[in-house]
Amino acid sequence: MEEVNQSVVSKFIILGLCDSWELQGFFLAIFSSLYLITILGNAFIVVIIITDSHLHLPMYFLLANLSFIDLCLSSVTTPKMITDFVKEKKTISFGGCMCQIFFGHFFGGGEMVLLVSMAYDRYVAICKPLHYCTIMNIHKCIGLVMTSWIIGFVHSISQLVIILKLPFCGPRELDSFFCDIPLVIKLACMETTILEILINADSGVLATLCFILLLISYSHILFTVCFYSKSGSSKALSTCTAHITVVVIFFGPCIFIYLWPVSITWVDKFLAVFYAVITPLLNPAIYTFRNKEIKISMRRLKCQ
Ligand SMILES: *[C@@H]1O[C@H](CO)[C@@H](O)[C@H](O)[C@H]1NC(C)=O
Repeated sequence: MEEVNQSVVSKFIILGLCDSWELQGFFLAIFSSLYLITILGNAFIVVIIITDSHLHLPMYFLLANLSFIDLCLSSVTTPKMITDFVKEKKTISFGGCMCQIFFGHFFGGGEMVLLVSMAYDRYVAICKPLHYCTIMNIHKCIGLVMTSWIIGFVHSISQLVIILKLPFCGPRELDSFFCDIPLVIKLACMETTILEILINADSGVLATLCFILLLISYSHILFTVCFYSKSGSSKALSTCTAHITVVVIFFGPCIFIYLWPVSITWVDKFLAVFYAVITPLLNPAIYTFRNKEIKISMRRLKCQ
């Protein structure tokens, strides 16, 4: 039966990263190893922080949650991408596509808010050290974590509700390796220019807001470290440069995908790979393995 107008698209065709078979074999090897390292690295951090009671402090709980979100975020797109490398016909069901959009934005949005929470935690620790214990207790920490999940959920579901209402009937080819809003919305059979702007603004506003909050707290921190702190300032500085690196790596691609879509396919694909595969891998490396307490904890674990 031919596709009739208004009939529902049940599958999308994914064009993937590239056409060449040799290159796909190469990517298969690379991305499987990266994914494995991401999963092991992040899981290791969660386990080490939960099991070591020396690390039961707000900063480490937030770190563990970040690793957990990274683990989930990379699992939304990477396994499907990896299995697609060995398939000649790459498709994704409509439901699967919506799931990728939902969970991608749920974890992505949650992670942004969590990064802000972590910056706030460092701000209190460095700029108000005497009040740290009264301001950041375990309840506040749980509150911050819950807030991240809730904002992530609301952000994601608000977009999904709009996308689910769109009619999909005609074109079905996605020139990427996973479903994301900017690409999927272009396939709807209706005029979507305004909707595109609105829905990208949803991600854009969240990202910009988080980015501004992060800028404010890190400027405060850097200012305090540079002008007031005597001892321990280099440690504070190194913690903060680690945080700032992650923030730049995380927000850079986001801004280009949602706020200034460049619409050059290979740039978009590169950013998407960066966002989906590299960032979840870098976070544990940057935040944790440079952290002295975590290194001590790893040594303790080895001795046992
Ligand atoms: C997330 O943070 C909460 C509250 O601080 C903590 O109890 C929990 O163990 C953390 N979750 C993970 C997976 O690390």
